[in-house]
Amino acid sequence: MKYNNLIYALAVAVMVSCESQNHSKKEAEQLTYNEAHRPQFHFTPKANWMNDPNGLFYKDGNYHLFFQYYPDSTVWGPMHWGHATSQDLIRWEEQPIALYPDSLGYIFSGSAVVDRLNTSGFGSEMQPPVVAIFTYHDPKGLEAGHKDFQNQGLAYSLDQGKTWTKYSGNPVLKNNTPNQDFRDPKVMWYEAGQKWVMTLAVYDRVQLYGSQNLKDWNLLSEFGIPGDTRLWECPDLFPIRVAQSREEKWVLLVSMQQQGPTGGTGTSYFVGDFDGTEFMADSAGQQWLDKGADNYAFVTFDNVPLPRHQRLGIGWMSNWQYAQQVPTSPWRSAMTVPRLLELHHKDGQYSLQATPVPALESLRDSGVDLPLTITNELDLSDQINPALGELDFQIDLQATTAKAFGVTLSNSTGEWVSITVDTADKTVAIDRTHSGPKGFSEAFFEGPHRTALPTAGSVLDLRLLLDQASLELFSGNGALNMTEVFFPQMAYSNITLWAHDGQLVLTGGKGFNLSSTWKTLPSQ
Ligand code: FRU
Repeated sequence: MKYNNLIYALAVAVMVSCESQNHSKKEAEQLTYNEAHRPQFHFTPKANWMNDPNGLFYKDGNYHLFFQYYPDSTVWGPMHWGHATSQDLIRWEEQPIALYPDSLGYIFSGSAVVDRLNTSGFGSEMQPPVVAIFTYHDPKGLEAGHKDFQNQGLAYSLDQGKTWTKYSGNPVLKNNTPNQDFRDPKVMWYEAGQKWVMTLAVYDRVQLYGSQNLKDWNLLSEFGIPGDTRLWECPDLFPIRVAQSREEKWVLLVSMQQQGPTGGTGTSYFVGDFDGTEFMADSAGQQWLDKGADNYAFVTFDNVPLPRHQRLGIGWMSNWQYAQQVPTSPWRSAMTVPRLLELHHKDGQYSLQATPVPALESLRDSGVDLPLTITNELDLSDQINPALGELDFQIDLQATTAKAFGVTLSNSTGEWVSITVDTADKTVAIDRTHSGPKGFSEAFFEGPHRTALPTAGSVLDLRLLLDQASLELFSGNGALNMTEVFFPQMAYSNITLWAHDGQLVLTGGKGFNLSSTWKTLPSQ
């Protein structure tokens, strides 16, 4: 179903291509990163279309973010890999395009690994290659009605990801399944078996492949949910130690094209075990990584020096339901803030918790203390910029008598977004139904989006990251994440913290203004 949309989008893209090329080139030259809705601490490309994060890796002090990119328009089109680098995961510098489409097709999503032992032979042990594994999507094959138009290819870099050479033996893994969807290879080094393991999305399931050299792959097993017919995308399998324990589990992230937590697309995960051949999920089954509308294709970095109970990842802050229609220009789409994943074992169940990377705190000003008791409405607009700020507060659940409390962002044109905690239901809801001019999408304005609060003791923590056109909510130390975008005609300038029918009592809380990462880049 989605590919009908993609073909349509492609046709539109081709029609507007020349016009938009000139237009966005001009705009890119005058780029200020100050355009309406331009995120100030989330990565966006200077101009044009972006979707999934790809090829995430760390090497020699730099984090590398590649991404699905169409440099000629603000809608999806022939995919390239764009590239950005950062030393702290917060201040990103866009680099030249890393991979261009070629005669084998567009460059769809995939991963990158640091091949330390030079198993691929592309470099040497002294100069280990970085190897990108991606999907070639051949539009001619699709048009001709073939089934096998998605195949996997390799490219390597011997200069820390700056320049890339495509492997002359591409494709390295051809589609010999009956499904046309055969994509998004994510590769990891399986230490216990001294081999590479690839997870690949194959329509309604994941296939696992093994290799010694990244070039020759053999099918190990399949993982799916019996009877499921949704489209699976962007899998990612990795080991992780359970928090405060020595137990090791495996997590399989998978993005789902349908029936996400708010409708549309979303990132899910399974917790289980992996024996080198098969992934076996625990009985908890599929869970959502983020309960908001806008965190898709979340995948993790290779080669990050982190404790074994943490894993670093990033998601695309949009939803295919409306991603191509959101009113931004000259770019379209942002990434989420990078998040640290931890696996917790509570009440007999494993679940992932995701929190923003600590480096984000370097953007804070000295902050203001929030009063500990709030009745009715507390106007914070003079202290905190709702278009570039943060609220971090801890609620005393026993002392709080309010039936509901929350935060509302608004502007003088009457547009607003709210976050509402219902203390009786123990839910939290984000309402963006009045967030800005309607008309670009119906699905976008459905809501509110409600979910259960994490089970807390007597204190519940809420943290809100606010950046022009998005909010990211974290609660229960990241047990709950909700990510949502919105597009008011004027940036929100009012922010209130409110309590209905009783008092909101805090054990502590702070508000911060944040600085723009574009203005604090090391090179500026
Ligand atoms: C996910 C996805 C991937 C594919 C890419 C194409 O958003 O559909 O499955 O590789 O986008 O841009």
